Amino acid sequence: MARHLITSALPYINGIKHLGNMVGSMLPADVYARFLRQTGREALYICATDEHGTPAELAAKEAGLPVDTFCAQQHDAQKAIYDGFGLSFDYFGRSSSPENREITQHFARQLQKNGFIEERAIRQVYSLADGRFLPDRYIVGTCPHCGYDKARGDQCENCTRVLDPTDLIDARSAISGSSDLEVRETKHLFLLQSKLQGEVEAWIDEHGKDWPVLASSIARKWLTEGLNDRAITRDLDWGVPVPADTWPELAAEGKVFYVWFDAPVEYIGATKEWADQDPANRDWKSWWYEAEDVRYTQFMAKDNVPFHTVMFPATELGTREPWKTVDYVKAFNWLTYYGGKFSTSQKRGIFTDAALEVLPADYWRYFLIANAPESDDSSFTWEHFAATVNKDLADTLGNFVNRVLSFSRKRFGDEVPAGLEEGEAEAQLGHQIAELLAEYERHMEELQFRKAAQALRALWSAGNSYLETKAPWLEIKTNPEGAALTLRTAMNLIHLYAIVSEPFIPASAAAMRSAFQLEADNATWVTQDEARSLTFVPAGTPFTVPPVLFAKITEDDLAAYRERFGGGEETAV
Ligand code: MF3
Ligand code: ZN
Repeated sequence: MARHLITSALPYINGIKHLGNMVGSMLPADVYARFLRQTGREALYICATDEHGTPAELAAKEAGLPVDTFCAQQHDAQKAIYDGFGLSFDYFGRSSSPENREITQHFARQLQKNGFIEERAIRQVYSLADGRFLPDRYIVGTCPHCGYDKARGDQCENCTRVLDPTDLIDARSAISGSSDLEVRETKHLFLLQSKLQGEVEAWIDEHGKDWPVLASSIARKWLTEGLNDRAITRDLDWGVPVPADTWPELAAEGKVFYVWFDAPVEYIGATKEWADQDPANRDWKSWWYEAEDVRYTQFMAKDNVPFHTVMFPATELGTREPWKTVDYVKAFNWLTYYGGKFSTSQKRGIFTDAALEVLPADYWRYFLIANAPESDDSSFTWEHFAATVNKDLADTLGNFVNRVLSFSRKRFGDEVPAGLEEGEAEAQLGHQIAELLAEYERHMEELQFRKAAQALRALWSAGNSYLETKAPWLEIKTNPEGAALTLRTAMNLIHLYAIVSEPFIPASAAAMRSAFQLEADNATWVTQDEARSLTFVPAGTPFTVPPVLFAKITEDDLAAYRERFGGGEETAV
């Protein structure tokens, strides 16, 4: 049986991520990993912070911290939030780790050995005052197109035109403000991707057959445009150093690898970090090297697809070593905020830390996955969010659980009541539940998250319909034994919900599961037979009534959220 390796795009270190970032990578990866583990598959879910590059240096500078201190703090801050969301990483690493340095350097040496790296001289801006070459975005000046005086060397923020540093009028260093700049010749390593074009094409023909269209179409488009040779080194203080054994001159100049070169390698690096925590029991290499029995699934937003489907595979193939390449690429479109972009600078949208301040993780998890931007962009609005939480979570699931348990306790005490044997209604219910469960499982296996959420909701609704039809609160007056049967059956549904809802809403699932004091409660997945017979919790099982699982979002709450986060007014017609 296959082992499952799961990775989600590494969140960049420069600040707290917003919900749009999480819904297209970490959250669905977590739901899938949880499902696989629950259904008895071996799964390893690896993620990390992506810590190198200019944005990290600039953010650290803005925070007035040395970049390593800044990254350490931001890593912990992000990790705490992901824990809050219940993300079940097997390991959440850091791309600045010694493990990643070692493997990244190894990749570069292999590529060099195989003729896929070349040193080339390029002309670049040097700042005499700062004593260093300046990356494009470290150069600021006046935009030649719109006159904006804080345009960066790579792009003008005001008119969005792409620029070359030499286009800028009155160019100066973003570090010191000095305009004592000159263009100097400097050497960089280039990855000769053009030489790997044919191989990558063949690899995609073979491996990309079953990818969702969003991923395969982007990959094909990149290949059609042709793979260009790319500079993979930079003049920065922070990054994986170019190894001195292979490139003494560049190493002496302090060159580091470009962030997009070392970041995907960190999927492997973080797996080694994981293994290094418990070397006697964990074998990182078996997941990545000659790992034919591993099925590798990646999760990412669509802007990341070219790097994962073309460039990183090219890098891996160029090592001429049997590194594991991706089997399935699950890509996502954008989540918008009232149809517009989430924007850090304009403070539009919801950041992951703020989300947890206002409501528990499960509310977000459920809504986001049920509305994941799978086939198209999807829009977050507070109105839609509140309606979904109130209807699906509070009314359909939460209310069912509390109503059944409270009523049964009131009438029959705190053990699951005995009553009649299962009859026709229960047989029908079991049949329906088994079918819906199979549908739910199928969508999960196919990583169709919106459809899986629909099937899960249908499972919850089926319980409600059963309860409405049997109406134990009336039944109890004429047929108490029948009412006991209804309640016992409903309690079995609660236990089933606890198990099958876990990938979506793990905390609430745990609360549901702990309602019953079962002797053996191993929370493994539900079989078709078990779904049909609904006899998890036998009569006589003690139970407690958990606190209300989901509070409804009121009009007042809504008003407060809109006020705090900004509603849709900017985009309203
Ligand atoms: N940090 C990148 C982003 O936010 C994603 C890196 S994914 C990796 O877009 F594979 F390169 F690590
Ligand atoms: Zn401009």
